[in-house]
Amino acid sequence: MSQFRVTRTLPEDATGAALRADVLAGLTSTPKWLAPKWFYDARGSELFEEITALPEYYPTRAEREILADRAGSIAAATGARTLVELGSGSSEKTRILLDALTGLRAYVPVDVSESALTQAGEAIVAERPGLQVHALIADFTGGLTLPETPGPRLVAFLGGTIGNLLPDERAAFLAAVRALLSPGDALLLGTDLVKDEELLVRAYDDAAGVTAQFNKNVLSVINRELEADFAPAAFEHVALWNPEREWIEMRLRSRAAQTVKVQALDLAVDFADGEELRTEVSAKFRREGVRAELAAAGLELAHWWTDGERRFALSLSVAG
Ligand code: SAH
Ligand code: TRP
Repeated sequence: MSQFRVTRTLPEDATGAALRADVLAGLTSTPKWLAPKWFYDARGSELFEEITALPEYYPTRAEREILADRAGSIAAATGARTLVELGSGSSEKTRILLDALTGLRAYVPVDVSESALTQAGEAIVAERPGLQVHALIADFTGGLTLPETPGPRLVAFLGGTIGNLLPDERAAFLAAVRALLSPGDALLLGTDLVKDEELLVRAYDDAAGVTAQFNKNVLSVINRELEADFAPAAFEHVALWNPEREWIEMRLRSRAAQTVKVQALDLAVDFADGEELRTEVSAKFRREGVRAELAAAGLELAHWWTDGERRFALSLSVAG
């Protein structure tokens, strides 16, 4: 029997229907917006992997450093037999945890990107024949049902991806994660930290322009899936620090007055010269804020670990 299973918990058409609803809502709002999960088609996942290797994009390296330092402590504190990973992508840093969790029986990567999930899952099964890998193609904000696997469970949410949710969405998400946990299960959460504005902005506006391509990839997704005619070159990538909200805002700014047609929605969208389309936020955190958000969801912060330069934090909370 194969050790690698893939389950799609989205109904066949859910992605298409959700994309249509999101794009219609976002492009007819003021200001206009697009939801970030649509960045990650196969090309988007590849571009994100390129971002993680950029000299300006420190979060991946900082988080990998913490994992390398603390994997033994994480294993000792959790004794996990199942690792569930939300937004697992390439599962690249996860290998550090898989190596350290000596009692691990099952790995459950969860992602909307089918291409990233199957590539990563197949590679991990090939490396670790004793491990049961059960990949879930699912939206982690949409009421997850986890497969039956041995406890205790460790749920990991790495990469600072929690910062891509808005505060209300984060509260709902953390409460839903808490509801998945049984006593003795744990949550390992990666959060990027508030720091110097210039370092932050550069991480989201790199010199080689990879982040700009990644941001514009969402236009290509809409062109392909909804028969739209966005010209990516007619938009400029913008990354701004919002000091009140303590988040980076990604936008696409129209370089001219233009009308974009979205045939599948029977929609014509006018952009003024300089008008901005909001694509994503990436919130940055402080220890006290993370502790309070976890507490509001019924989770108690047990460990807080940072890299040597205090750029990024991993926190571990255990469910009572
Ligand atoms: N954990 C990896 C990847 C982070 S990028 C790392 O730390 O490098 C964010 C990942 O979350 C992508 O793989 C993307 O496809 C996935 N993702 C984004 N929104 C999602 C959602 N709503 N549900 C499930 N996966 C999502
Ligand atoms: N989770 C990543 C982050 O917030 C996602 C990301 C990195 C991203 N660079 C981006 C999203 C550029 C949109 C545009 O750091």
